[in-house]
Amino acid sequence: MISHSETLTQYRRDYRPPAFLVPRVEMIFDLDARATEVTSALYFERNPRQEICCRKLILNGEAQTLLEVTLNGTLLSPAQYHLTDKELHIPNVGERGVLVVKTRHAPADNTELEGLYLSSGIFCTQCEAEGFRRITYFPDRPDMLSRFTVTIRGDRKILPVMLSNGNLRAQGKLDDERHFATWEDPFPKPCYLFALVAGDLDVLHDQFVTCSGRRVDLEIYSTKENIPSCAYAMDALKRAMRWDEQRYSREYDLNRFMIFCADDFNMGAMENKGLNIFNSALVLADPKTATDDDYHAIESVIAHEYFHNWTGNRITCRDWFQLSLKEGLTVFRDQQFSSEMGTEASERIQMVDFLRRRQFPEDAGPTAHPVRPDEYREINNFYTTTVYEKGAEVIRMQHTLLGEEKFQRGMALYFERHDGQAVTCDDFIQAMQDASGVDLTQFKRWYEQAGTPEVGVCADYHADTREYVLTLTQRTPPTPGQPEKKDLVIPVGFALLDRDGKRVPLQQAASQWDEKSAAQESVTLILREKEQRFTFRHVPPGVVPSLLRDGSAPVRLLFDYRKEELRHLARYDSDPVNRWDAMQRCFTGELVALAQAAKEEKPFALSEDFLTLYAALLRDDRSDPMLRALALSCPDLAALVDDYAPFECNAFIEAQRFLLKTLADRLQNDLQTVFGQQRACISALPYAPTTEQRAHRRLAAHALSVCCANDDASSLALADDLYWRADNMTDAIVALTAIRDSGSALRADLYTDFARRWRDHPLVLDKWFSLEATRDGDDVLARVKTLTEHPAFTLKNPNRVRALLGAFALRNFPAFHRNDGSGYRLIAYYVDVLDASNPHSATMLLNAFRSWQKWDVAQRNHAFMALQELRQKERSPEAGELLDKMLANV
Ligand code: PHE
Ligand code: ZN
Repeated sequence: MISHSETLTQYRRDYRPPAFLVPRVEMIFDLDARATEVTSALYFERNPRQEICCRKLILNGEAQTLLEVTLNGTLLSPAQYHLTDKELHIPNVGERGVLVVKTRHAPADNTELEGLYLSSGIFCTQCEAEGFRRITYFPDRPDMLSRFTVTIRGDRKILPVMLSNGNLRAQGKLDDERHFATWEDPFPKPCYLFALVAGDLDVLHDQFVTCSGRRVDLEIYSTKENIPSCAYAMDALKRAMRWDEQRYSREYDLNRFMIFCADDFNMGAMENKGLNIFNSALVLADPKTATDDDYHAIESVIAHEYFHNWTGNRITCRDWFQLSLKEGLTVFRDQQFSSEMGTEASERIQMVDFLRRRQFPEDAGPTAHPVRPDEYREINNFYTTTVYEKGAEVIRMQHTLLGEEKFQRGMALYFERHDGQAVTCDDFIQAMQDASGVDLTQFKRWYEQAGTPEVGVCADYHADTREYVLTLTQRTPPTPGQPEKKDLVIPVGFALLDRDGKRVPLQQAASQWDEKSAAQESVTLILREKEQRFTFRHVPPGVVPSLLRDGSAPVRLLFDYRKEELRHLARYDSDPVNRWDAMQRCFTGELVALAQAAKEEKPFALSEDFLTLYAALLRDDRSDPMLRALALSCPDLAALVDDYAPFECNAFIEAQRFLLKTLADRLQNDLQTVFGQQRACISALPYAPTTEQRAHRRLAAHALSVCCANDDASSLALADDLYWRADNMTDAIVALTAIRDSGSALRADLYTDFARRWRDHPLVLDKWFSLEATRDGDDVLARVKTLTEHPAFTLKNPNRVRALLGAFALRNFPAFHRNDGSGYRLIAYYVDVLDASNPHSATMLLNAFRSWQKWDVAQRNHAFMALQELRQKERSPEAGELLDKMLANV
């Protein structure tokens, strides 16, 4: 492990254009698992844009052995350059020249999975954000755009396929054993988009004819046995390509688009130019091994990476502070795509839910940062839900403020103005503003300020004048480094529901919102000041406000809804997001009341009104089963921590158990009936991951798992039956999930069968590892320990680590938070071990501790000790930065 204590903080304000440009790079790879040689020729020239004249060429480089440096044909002696463990300095290089650097690597020993490494024996690379410097010495920064020519040489038998970005220029035999392939990418790109893949691979071929009639070869590479499972990803790719043409007028620009799927990959996928590299979990799918959710994720990530070709690759980031320029925008685009492929309402609910469950806690914790951060120590720590999902919401709000037509004009201008450049979030907003005429000056603060804004609402009805007065206030809580906040521009979707659940026509007292939404039944109020008042006329008495419709802004809504108002919204709101939200608030209300009872050792009772509401929604067969399933799902305890800190973990755990068990006891018939009905809707159809089938399966799954919560034999029998009849992975997982916490012997039978059946299929075993790790019960900790010894488990594979240890830490609330601290110690142990081999896996686990200061005192003390101990040791920059932040101010 390299010494990291000297890691410096990078500041956004320090940006300087590079002193030298490298418009052209020629690389040669002589591949070997233990001794790869990389030769790069950098054609450099002084940057005319940089006034400060620096004669030194400074290159980044680490984790490799420098063999040779040649400047303009002359071999340099070590005295003629300066080498540190992070940089190579070449003094007095003149105005322009060619620098050739030769280095040696051992890809087989690369456990970080950054740079050049081996995944199941196949050479592959991962360069974003700063992995290219582990491949060669190079000015590794995203504003350095170069044309790459790459020659790969390797053994013909071991490495029959050798790929890199762009077009294949030449290939052939070198001698009896070795061959070569030369690739050339015509598009200048930052080195983080470089990719190389080599191995014994098979390929799934297809073609796509672009809107202008060009033929593009589509190729998905994997090992032979996986090829049939690439078909769904291929179809998704074609859908994404067509969609980007139709919705954004974006055409693909190379003659070939390749995807390689890697078994060992830290993230989901990577958008390398013309050669995307995917985690195999996000490519491989067939009904026998992949669930509905897997199919959904595959479609959305395939689209996401493809969309990066324009938002990320053709137009890239000037520096890593601008990460959300490409990520927020591309997430927004993939969300739009998914909404159009599926059902808008359920897609939106899942986005809003994800944001609130995952991003809000980040924004409220020690690692809170703006969508465009001002500083970082380790950029790898900034691939966050703030940069991605909140970033997407910030784009979505611009879409709301501008409307589709002006937004598209802004996008067109952005593409036209900045194609081929490395730009900033400001450049994006400027294009939006210039094209639309809408002033976004104040809006920009969304990029600058961390923390989830709170929108307070006060509603007054004046019966005499029939006026309804809404007072909105805003406040963004302080976050580390940002004690004071400015007012934001917050679009608040709004409607009023009457007693029958119908929307009341809204008549403005004065023009308070933009014209397009005036005189409608729902409007978007724009909150710009600390406090603003909106008055509506001719409002009948007894209306209920529906606020923040469609999740119109990433804010916390503070409004004291009365319980009956929430029930009204949950049943009748025409906005599905708010119907869902109201039901979630009802759930939370019950949980909080039950937790209070637990704390005071009073008897537990679920309110009858809640039960009636739950039953009504369950039976409401006029509404989309997916929407019902989402609304009826109990909120995650982890998402409640911030609102109820110090969070009484045990009381809430008890509350949740009681709530689910009571639903099972009281509504057993209904739940079983709904299960039967939903299954019947699809029983005659062969499995397909369609929106419709998924919805029926999801509601059935929900009903089944709730009715199994009281361990009733007739319900467990339904799960048992579903499992043994299952001809697809979704049904099997639904059954296993429903029976997971049961004390019945059936459980063991199913789990044993499943593990045996899939023992040679790691991606499926991951599902089993996760189910085991999320079980309730006292023995789960011991079970997880045992499973780390399972032959299929390895700390080297990020998917395995996430499936077992990640699921335990992040999705098994009761076990992770055990009073004796054993859950924390287990995870801390693996953070420590993993940090030495793969910091990315380590920080994934470490993040489970992020809200520790808001936990109950017992939990807090144990967590503090675990974190302190971790910090005693030399850590990777990733873990070091995270630990320092989590332990600041204590
Ligand atoms: N840029 C990738 C994406 O969003 C994510 C990624 C980041 C992958 C860093 C690998 C390393 O799709
Ligand atoms: Zn991305």
